[in-house]
Amino acid sequence: MNARDLLRSVRMAGSANGRRAARSAWRRQRADARDLPRRGPERARVPGAAVEAEPLPGGGVVRFTRSVLRVRVAVGGAVFCGWDGAAPEPSYALAGEGPAGGACPAADTRAVLEPDKDGWRVVSERVTVLISRHGAVEIRTPGGLLLRRELPPRWWDATGQQEGGGARWVQRSETPADARVYGLGGRAAGPRLPAGGYRLWNTDPGGSFAPGDDPLYITMPLQLVVADAGCHLIFHDNTWDGRVTLRDGEEGAGSGHDRPGGCEVRMDGGPLRYWVIAGTPARVLAGWTALTGRPALPPRWALGHHHSRWGFGSEQEVRRVAAGYRERGLPLSVLHLDIDHFDGHRVFTVDRRNFPDLPGLAAELAGQGVRLVSIVDPAVKVERGLAAYDEGSAADAFVRDARGEPVRGVVWPGEAVFPDFTDPRTRAWWGGLYAERLAQGFAGVWHDMNEPVSFAPFGDPTLPRSARHVLDGRGGDHREAHNVYGLTMARAGYEGLRRLRPEQRPFLFSRSGWAGMQRYGGSWSGDVATGWEGLRASLALVLGLGLCGVPYSGPDVGGFTGTPSPELYVRWFQLGAYLPFFRTHSAIDGGRREPWEFGAAALEHARAALVERVRLLPYLETLSHIARGTGAPYVRPLWWKSPGDRALRECADAFLLGDALLVAPVLEPGSVTRAVRLPRGRWYDTLTETEYRGRGQVLLDAPLDRIPVLAKAGSILPVAGADGAIELEVWAPRQGRTGSGVVFAGDPEGWGAPRVERFVSRWVDGKVVVERDGGGEPGYRVRVRGVAP
Ligand code: GLC
Repeated sequence: MNARDLLRSVRMAGSANGRRAARSAWRRQRADARDLPRRGPERARVPGAAVEAEPLPGGGVVRFTRSVLRVRVAVGGAVFCGWDGAAPEPSYALAGEGPAGGACPAADTRAVLEPDKDGWRVVSERVTVLISRHGAVEIRTPGGLLLRRELPPRWWDATGQQEGGGARWVQRSETPADARVYGLGGRAAGPRLPAGGYRLWNTDPGGSFAPGDDPLYITMPLQLVVADAGCHLIFHDNTWDGRVTLRDGEEGAGSGHDRPGGCEVRMDGGPLRYWVIAGTPARVLAGWTALTGRPALPPRWALGHHHSRWGFGSEQEVRRVAAGYRERGLPLSVLHLDIDHFDGHRVFTVDRRNFPDLPGLAAELAGQGVRLVSIVDPAVKVERGLAAYDEGSAADAFVRDARGEPVRGVVWPGEAVFPDFTDPRTRAWWGGLYAERLAQGFAGVWHDMNEPVSFAPFGDPTLPRSARHVLDGRGGDHREAHNVYGLTMARAGYEGLRRLRPEQRPFLFSRSGWAGMQRYGGSWSGDVATGWEGLRASLALVLGLGLCGVPYSGPDVGGFTGTPSPELYVRWFQLGAYLPFFRTHSAIDGGRREPWEFGAAALEHARAALVERVRLLPYLETLSHIARGTGAPYVRPLWWKSPGDRALRECADAFLLGDALLVAPVLEPGSVTRAVRLPRGRWYDTLTETEYRGRGQVLLDAPLDRIPVLAKAGSILPVAGADGAIELEVWAPRQGRTGSGVVFAGDPEGWGAPRVERFVSRWVDGKVVVERDGGGEPGYRVRVRGVAP
């Protein structure tokens, strides 16, 4: 037991659930000791020397003495490499309908394996793949620059009798000395991942997390690498527990002796296969979301402000909060009900004493333009007579151990069992249960505790690694299923909602997930500790997830724990107002997060942020459609359009919101100025309209009532005017240049295709003129800004 376990066990010891959790943790350990295949003698293996090669559509196969490498370029440009016979399917990451998960796109038949001077090569539109005679694989740009070099992998094969998983393996690689790495799911330390180790095992940090905590709820074996030579993404399609270790490169200051950046991926089992996508950041994200699915489009109302709390004790309290917003003229779009509204914390039930008429409450709030969202936890209380338990047991829907007994863990309601979402029958059954939520009047769902969590005073707070899963017909254990538990739960919920209410787009967000989760919805940053560090981490998480293809996320504004100072609350609120998912939330023992709880000044600053959020809604809606169509996140790192600008690669305190805006939140106490590093181009301070020239650093005022927001010269963005109608905000292009912008106005909740309108601006006789692309009046009110009087 380590110190952290000890602390956890002391904290839990007092309660009945704590004692249950202790028993369940012992059970988990016993089950694993009994049922997990023992790691016997192993023999290390490398591919050996190449023996022969065979061209196939999209690439080919190279056979080595002790392994085989398959290279296949897919239509769209993504390159697949699989060792030891690994194929792209089955895969939980890939989109589309495959036999056991997603489907792999067709091969680009123009790419073929051909002999090269030191081995073989596959030339494709976006990259050239070079395979050496000992199994090193280089990915180069069409111009020949090295993006990454994968050294020959190494396996550890079991020499005795062993079941499941196959060999452990390690794959080392090198990247250019200037390369910077992003991604790996939601990491508090980002967005640029510092050198060090990152575990691939979805984990509830328990209680709350701070920047040093890793891993967190969403891990993904996906890295986005940015270097002068170009950008690329590498995704190791393997759901097992593993570890990625990054090492920064060093440049030899012109000596020609650079030390390359290093990466090591080490997995406990599962296939050694990966995808590489190269190009500009925008092309990489487009390629990634073409492969793993475009992000679900949130309904329009989900772009407004959400308010939540663990601990709304009754309908009256919910009404009071809604009234508090209304009476102060503060816009509110959504209220969230946490586990308190369940009967004894049992999922799919209602505490009728304190919430006697949820449908009535929902209808009343709907009349005020406020939706209700419900938490949904996967664990089902072990209790005869509870519909979810009885039905699930009858349908054999719960995870079992190797001896065939249902695995029991402990979560909020007490002893609980866990649906096996890797079973298509269980997904169908579970999805049907959302009918109860819809009947209660909920407009969307919030998936929680789906790493999955089973409370434990010591050891890993999840299911035994030996627990059995259906894995879409293939069968396997929790070592393989763990990381896709949240992903497959999201699929169950999303598909259920689509079946139950086909005319509306589901609103779903999930704490845990894996590559491809964006197909079903978004995420939030989980239990971020209240503090300035947490504020910083929450931006890192949103940026990082966006680069992993999950564009819709946001933090618990104000932090999950304790009570923020008014200053911290305001700064968090100001940041949150520019993030896709804007929700205040806190723990049951934390302070309140209503904007009026922090004094009169804070209330006015929060009001200003809320009003600005509402004004930007048409722009956010446009960004949601762009994310849906191209995978480009709403919130982007400053290097998005200038990946060659090395200083921007390190920036962790500012971001781009779409193409038009640059947001520089204040992340430090007592600060009333912000140094902002600008990407190339001209930028206007949106408050003063002062023009700044990028690249370079500027110092802007950031008093407590505002965070600096800059607009790119030449941008045109839709905003809501005072009457709610769309207006075009037009930021003057540089003299002699033109500007442009796009507006997507969509079906607010349904599936109708959005209307897309493009606009251009240019200088005519000393004035900025705006028209539709192709000519004609813009058809919207226009406000030109940034023209010196
Ligand atoms: C988890 C969630 C948190 C929620 C709580 C109670 O800690 O992350 O948001 O309030 O559970 O359901």
